Amino acid sequence: KKEKIMCGIIGIASNKPVSINIINSLKKLEYRGYDSAGLATLTKNNINEKKCSGRVDELEKILFKTPSDGNIGIGHVRWATHGVPNVINAHPHSSDQVSVVHNGIIENSDEIKKELELKELKFKSQTDTEVITLLITEALKENEPLDAVFKTLQKLKGSFALGIIFKNFSDIIIGARRGSPLAVGYSKEENYLGSDSYALKSMTNKISYLDDGELCVLTKDNISFYDDDLKKVNKKIYSMSEDESTTDKGAYKHFMLKEIYEQPITVKNCINEYIDSLKKNINIFNFPIEANKINKIILIGCGTAYHSCLVAKYWFEELTSIDVEIDIASEFRYRKLKFNSNNLYIFVSQSGETADTAAALDICKKNNVKTCSIVNVIESTIARNSDWVLPIHAGTEIGVASTKAFLGQLMVLYILCLKIASIRKDINQSTYEKNIKNLNSIPEAIRKCLNTESNVQLMAKEFLHAKGSMFLGRGSSFPIALEGALKLKELSYLHAEGYPAGEMKHGPLALIEEGLPVIILAPKDKYFQKTLSNMQEVIARGGKILLITDIKKEVINENIRFGVRVPYIDNSLSPFLTTIPLQLLAYHVALLKNCDIDKPRNLAKSVTVE
Ligand code: G6P
Repeated sequence: KKEKIMCGIIGIASNKPVSINIINSLKKLEYRGYDSAGLATLTKNNINEKKCSGRVDELEKILFKTPSDGNIGIGHVRWATHGVPNVINAHPHSSDQVSVVHNGIIENSDEIKKELELKELKFKSQTDTEVITLLITEALKENEPLDAVFKTLQKLKGSFALGIIFKNFSDIIIGARRGSPLAVGYSKEENYLGSDSYALKSMTNKISYLDDGELCVLTKDNISFYDDDLKKVNKKIYSMSEDESTTDKGAYKHFMLKEIYEQPITVKNCINEYIDSLKKNINIFNFPIEANKINKIILIGCGTAYHSCLVAKYWFEELTSIDVEIDIASEFRYRKLKFNSNNLYIFVSQSGETADTAAALDICKKNNVKTCSIVNVIESTIARNSDWVLPIHAGTEIGVASTKAFLGQLMVLYILCLKIASIRKDINQSTYEKNIKNLNSIPEAIRKCLNTESNVQLMAKEFLHAKGSMFLGRGSSFPIALEGALKLKELSYLHAEGYPAGEMKHGPLALIEEGLPVIILAPKDKYFQKTLSNMQEVIARGGKILLITDIKKEVINENIRFGVRVPYIDNSLSPFLTTIPLQLLAYHVALLKNCDIDKPRNLAKSVTVE
């Protein structure tokens, strides 16, 4: 059974030997595939290829026994599509002239293979990739490397990201992409090619992304880019956040506060990974089920990750024609479910190790349905075991209470939703492009939300002597109310109820008494007036109202104790913003109560037991 649809590629051009850094990067790419691995370096104009079946650790052992020199090289982790996972089928695929690593599928490889066999060319492997090696080798007889690759690409159908080195051109790596993702990284006297920025992160934080159809030529000192007509193009260089969180709190008192303040950057990184802002498109490919054929989406997670699933349900229902279900992993795994091979099962988990989520994923695998995971830790069990992985690019999260990972999950879910809606033509092109454009305003808007901290600090005092508290919202603000209440419970051990505002009158209203702090989430969406009516019900019973809204006009009156205003971008994007004051609120209440903020009692960051 073919499961993963991904492989990982890396290329390094340097002034020093590259094999160890190739191995380290391949370890980061193992989330994309791990049934075989390989690398090729150029030593004294010789292609030096090492391959193995199994994990990158095996390849490392081989290198330990027989080291590979060479200041230029490419590497690959494979998840087999064409040909069993063995040494011969592992990448790179080399001739006496070139060595190629490939992520994707060449759909017309059989036809090309037949044509090349007529010319008496011999194939060593069963892979689709080897046709690329032989086509480039043939083209090199009459062309320079870039033209040889370009002419080869014209003959290929399907999807690919490629990294290629050349025996007789010992200072260049050529990269090309159609469909599968490809990034490049810049450093001093060293440049890189990689399937994503993760693979490059320990080496550089300066990244550019190839757009569909583009090629690049890398040397240790320079990277040039070409479009699908082979015209030179310029690229924007992004600065990714450096992942220092594991070692250093910096000027912050707690990791949690640092992680809250990192969010404008981590969300921007995530947008950069998935959005092609020039072409106004979303770089998500290789769906395990064609987006047009998805029957239903089932979103599964625990804790905060479950709340992001809940927000996404509103988005998917609003923007796509697909039915959506959500489930808590510990419930999903024991329910009697009807599995359908046209359903897409999406698992959301920061750590990728949560036992209940992993068990729910196993059940899906046993039932032969397609799975996708949205994770922060890409080396994790859940990432490895799912067919498709969409990383959230939030960087290491240390604080037990999840903050920046939650926003990252929301971002990937929203982007995925937009992409599916556009493929299925549930939204038109102009709505698609407008929504993509709106995303770019989020990082700055989050920054503005962080400015509410001093106001939120005052608000926190209202919770100190309270018996409990209540968080209310409608629509996608309802899961944010749940998340706000969860944050407060986790960190300050104060009782907090999150509720859909409209459900108050069916029970929880009985809890409202003089002075009870009640957070109302009321963005200016279609629920706004209704939420304000629910707020009046609370006011009438003496609740102390703390209002979070994005409406411009002054809303504070004698009945509202505090008002926090977040920026307005678009109705559906309010969860990204209203979350921020709630994270700060939980933090400040816990701080006032002297709680152990980064390690709340009875909780763990990664819950690997049932
Ligand atoms: C634990 C953490 C929560 C987290 C939940 C799910 O309970 O304390 O912050 O939301 O696990 O974790 P996951 O890693 O699967 O997102």
